[in-house]
Amino acid sequence: MPLENFTVKSKLKDYEVFFGEAAEYLPRLAAGPDCVFAIDENVWRLHKDSALKSLESAPKVILPIGEAVKTLESVQLLYDRIVGFSPKKNMRLVSIGGGITQDITGFAASTLYRGVKWTFIPTTLLAQADSCIGGKTSLNFKSYKNLVGTFYPPTEVYISAGFLSTLVDGDYLSGLGEIAKLCIIGGAESAGAFADALAGLLGREPAALTRFLRLALEIKKGYIEEDEFDAGRRNILNFGHCFGHAIESATGFAVSHGIAVVYGILLANIAARRRGLLSEDAERSMRDRILMPLISSAAAAAPFDGNLIIQGMKKDKKRTGAKLALVMALDGFKMARVDDLEETEAAAAIGEFNRSV
Ligand SMILES: NC(=O)c1ccc[n+]([C@@H]2O[C@H](COP(=O)([O-])OP(=O)(O)OC[C@H]3O[C@@H](n4cnc5c(N)ncnc54)[C@H](O)[C@@H]3O)[C@@H](O)[C@H]2O)c1
Ligand SMILES: [Zn+2]
Repeated sequence: MPLENFTVKSKLKDYEVFFGEAAEYLPRLAAGPDCVFAIDENVWRLHKDSALKSLESAPKVILPIGEAVKTLESVQLLYDRIVGFSPKKNMRLVSIGGGITQDITGFAASTLYRGVKWTFIPTTLLAQADSCIGGKTSLNFKSYKNLVGTFYPPTEVYISAGFLSTLVDGDYLSGLGEIAKLCIIGGAESAGAFADALAGLLGREPAALTRFLRLALEIKKGYIEEDEFDAGRRNILNFGHCFGHAIESATGFAVSHGIAVVYGILLANIAARRRGLLSEDAERSMRDRILMPLISSAAAAAPFDGNLIIQGMKKDKKRTGAKLALVMALDGFKMARVDDLEETEAAAAIGEFNRSV
């Protein structure tokens, strides 16, 4: 059954999210005037003879992909290639790829002529279920991840689940981790539904996948429409990321982003339970029904080096006070952000987790 399109409300400009097959909308976009495509090199290689066939002779830039190239230099290279197509102010940039493509091209779209039309076609599970809405673009600078960025909503988003067929297991699981996060934030009903559907999701069942992709986006939409510029409530979307980002860097990025988020939720839950804010039953249920099945599907990375993780948490750019910041799920799936987490509490949570694996 085709999924229903929806609109995301934005103070900058509302935008539409369309669900459909690439073959339906790409020829139309390619035929439009002043359109330049920017495509993830792997997506182009894997789909140029199928879903992207209609772009054979379209003006396009094939983008090298990796965290190391999510930089201002890559944006400049992209400007350079776009200038070669003699663009006009009313041009449209169409990006096809995952979160890295989104960040490089979204930043370019937001700055070229102070903002050009930008169509985003996400091709990873993470980008389809999470990052494609929210309007953030971020670039890495030196050793600082996502230090430079803009708020720039796309003009429109097209989601085609067909692209996911070529996604490697690690990237697929990473996307599932972010969907799990959103379903827990969404409350008891969505968290329970996710747990019930997890076997099907791990088996990449199309019906389960499209259902949760849509549900995850709906949950995220509620948060970003209320707090588009990340001044308060949107912080909750950082659930799992406080420990998660630190785990990614402490393990040299051996753990994918979404799985680091899952570990991060597990640790946040331990810290919440130790503060008496989350019951043992609720913590155990989330761990056994959602978090551990995802972690055991990914290659194990635990136990963790507590000191390295705490050093990483101190660098968290969302931290405002002297202590550590942590988003927690409390009893009844109430979400809260605390700014007064002691290093000893973080260390105790990591220690407890390490002893359990
Ligand atoms: N701007 C935002 O709001 C936002 C939100 C979350 C994450 N991010 C950023 O997104 C990045 C991670 O993005 P991601 O997880 O989507 O992955 P990605 O863009 O890093 O892509 C992961 C890998 O999958 C490949 N790939 C992409 N689509 C494919 C497909 N359909 N089949 C086969 N391979 C494919 C890519 O070439 C790459 O090798 C991080 O840099 C993160 O900071 C941005
Ligand atoms: Zn994330």
